[in-house]
Amino acid sequence: MASGGNINILAIESSCDETSAAVIQNGKVLSNHIATQKVHERFGGVVPELASRAHMQNIVPVVEAAINDSGLGKHDFNAVAFTQSPGLLGSLLVGACFAKSFAQASSIPLIAVHHMQAHVLAHFIESAPEFPFLCLTVSGGHTQIVLCRDHLDMEVLGETIDDAAGEAFDKVAKMLGLPYPGGPLVDKLAALGDPLKFKFPLSEMKDYQFSFSGLKTSVMYFLQAQKKIDPEFVANNLNDICASVQYTIIKMLMTKLQKAAKELKIKHIGIAGGVSANSGLRKALQEAGAKNGWTVYIPKFEYCTDNAAMIGITGYYKFLKGAFTDLSANPSARATWI
Ligand SMILES: Nc1ncnc2c1ncn2[C@@H]1O[C@H](COP(=O)(O)OP(=O)(O)OP(=O)(O)O)[C@@H](O)[C@H]1O
Ligand SMILES: [Mg+2]
Repeated sequence: MASGGNINILAIESSCDETSAAVIQNGKVLSNHIATQKVHERFGGVVPELASRAHMQNIVPVVEAAINDSGLGKHDFNAVAFTQSPGLLGSLLVGACFAKSFAQASSIPLIAVHHMQAHVLAHFIESAPEFPFLCLTVSGGHTQIVLCRDHLDMEVLGETIDDAAGEAFDKVAKMLGLPYPGGPLVDKLAALGDPLKFKFPLSEMKDYQFSFSGLKTSVMYFLQAQKKIDPEFVANNLNDICASVQYTIIKMLMTKLQKAAKELKIKHIGIAGGVSANSGLRKALQEAGAKNGWTVYIPKFEYCTDNAAMIGITGYYKFLKGAFTDLSANPSARATWI
């Protein structure tokens, strides 16, 4: 190892359908490569076995590209960070096996990273939110309000009891005949529609919990009824349906986020995860920030969805604390919060 006094971390992300590798030096991103798997599009969702196979094909070229792009050599690393949990087990295994092999071959330590903690710490790639920091993490598999007292001291205050916000976007998009993943398309079409045209119910959950499965069911029955009257209803109202559904999801998210910020008296507020790429949610956060005197944090688009840079930044903070794991650490589809 020859890191020249720097802390160089190779980071690997493979929890779902993105194979990603990044190189982080002293907490700054030198490179971040992401190979998105197109193979799932025709199935309308991620097929776990195909995802694992695609990770196996992608992992070596993606890591090579990240290292070459960083200007470092493969012997320059101080540690390897990888996503240990949560995610698809077969997908996680590919990244974990690669990371362990690299660590063993280079005689450097291994750092296990929790994917949801990494989504939150994506904020620290290009900014430095003050603590206590409140983060709404909204992704394909999770919807959480997280209280961060420090980089590695986080508490989930509340989360969804059923579908995640991203899942709600994707499932509604599927009902509308849009290709997977539907979230970004709903966002695009929503910008052209009337958010108040159709009214969908807002779930009323206790504390900081969320629920999105009722919205999905209500959209399904609404579309069934409307199509009986007008078979072309979806085609004729696509933008307004997308805008109304997006409005409902954002309203549920923002209501709970504002409640948490008020009750905990926190003024540094961010959003993270794939759904934080949503333009309506970004705007709603900016508006709430201006109204409530918050400092708001919104990650760059490339750090919203799955990426290894966020695994690397988490790895960096764990490296500073000496929080290493041994080579017997196995990935897990679900894990309690770290
Ligand atoms: N602009 C957007 N508007 C709404 N949803 C979006 C947008 N961009 C991405 N998404 C949604 O974000 C989700 C993907 O985010 P991400 O990659 O963080 O999730 P994941 O890694 O699959 O899940 P998790 O992080 O919970 O394990 C998908 O549901 C996708 O539709
Ligand atoms: Mg994710």
